[in-house]
Amino acid sequence: MTILVTGGAGYIGSHTCVKLLEEGYDIIVVDNLVNSNEKAVGRIQELIGKIFPFYRLDVCDVDALRKVFQNHQIDCVIHFAGLKAVGESVSKPLEYYSNNLISTITLCKVMKEYGVTCFIFSSSATVYKPGSSMPVNETAELGCTNPYGWTKYMCEQILRDVALTNPDWSVVLLRYFNPIGAHESGQIGEDPTGIPNNLVPYITQTALGKLEKLYVFGNDYDTKDGTGVRDYIHVQDLAQGHVDAVNFASKTTGCEEINLGTGIGYSVLDIVSTFEKVNGVKVPYEISPRRPGDIGTVYADATKASRLLKWKAEKDLEDMCRDSWRWQKQNPNGYNT
Ligand code: NAD
Ligand code: UD1
Repeated sequence: MTILVTGGAGYIGSHTCVKLLEEGYDIIVVDNLVNSNEKAVGRIQELIGKIFPFYRLDVCDVDALRKVFQNHQIDCVIHFAGLKAVGESVSKPLEYYSNNLISTITLCKVMKEYGVTCFIFSSSATVYKPGSSMPVNETAELGCTNPYGWTKYMCEQILRDVALTNPDWSVVLLRYFNPIGAHESGQIGEDPTGIPNNLVPYITQTALGKLEKLYVFGNDYDTKDGTGVRDYIHVQDLAQGHVDAVNFASKTTGCEEINLGTGIGYSVLDIVSTFEKVNGVKVPYEISPRRPGDIGTVYADATKASRLLKWKAEKDLEDMCRDSWRWQKQNPNGYNT
């Protein structure tokens, strides 16, 4: 079975490519490298000892995409390609709406032309309306607070409509919680440009001494220690969830929204103390004001993934902290080390 992976040079895509290859799938990767490095593609090939086709192209470019479908018999598409920085989406809404929506629509059109009917989409827990009761399940009310979130919300709706009018299609909308960690080899991992926005890359760069200290955004939330609680999930578990979603989608039709999380919430201070303990390093931090737009607690009800995909997260917080640190230590400047 051949899977087209868009955004396969990126953080989650690269880990999923490794898992797919390990499980015997053939893959084709397309990525315009707007937020990634071609070296990631080389590392995947080295890790698995297998060469696969890589096309540097923009998924919004219909002619370039058509050529890929002409050159290969594709059975299923996993669509990771997209812009994902929440803050940037507020300052550049048009870039986010056009990139994330047009890439998804273009992909659907070309898939239709070539009779490909299996689509796995990278959605996010950010589609849930703030204030939902936790753990949040797939039937909770939706609503977003920033353009990035709305692009995921809108792509979900587009894909639901496509599945509805094309009864032979199978679409899985995977709503990720907070992916962290890296491949156990330390060869692939998250490589953010500039100063990281997300907690764990900020922690790893602080532990390395590239950043002076972590700013903990608020300690007055209604949580066990006052700091924000999230459902952190190992990127390797997330990658496995995609393989399981491909298996599921290739045997079914219709459209399903599925949370991929552990179902466990950890606070910012839990992450800091576990990271320090398992890695034997110090993470200096200071409590600072809340980050605008943040909410206190988010964690998943992951029972639907277990029921439909037979998937469950296997790795714990210690694994996530250990693997994030190994990647950072081995690659202090990411893929440009
Ligand atoms: P990433 O930025 O590392 O990977 C996305 C990849 O898509 C990058 O390699 C980028 O170069 C590529 N890309 C972007 N627009 C493209 C286009 N028009 N054509 C071709 N390639 C393009 O991000 P990630 O963390 O691996 O996330 C993958 C997907 O999962 C994204 O859609 C993201 O929104 C979604 N997601 C991520 C998280 C997270 O915390 N990392 C959480 C929920 C959802
Ligand atoms: C972020 C995105 C969200 C995306 C999710 C998945 C924002 C506002 N939201 O969510 O859309 O779906 O990632 O990865 O970016 N924190 C600190 N100090 C820091 C960084 C973070 O204290 O320097 C805290 C935050 O307040 C939060 C927790 O750490 O409580 C996690 O933050 P982060 O990694 O940015 O993820 P989310 O905000 O959950």
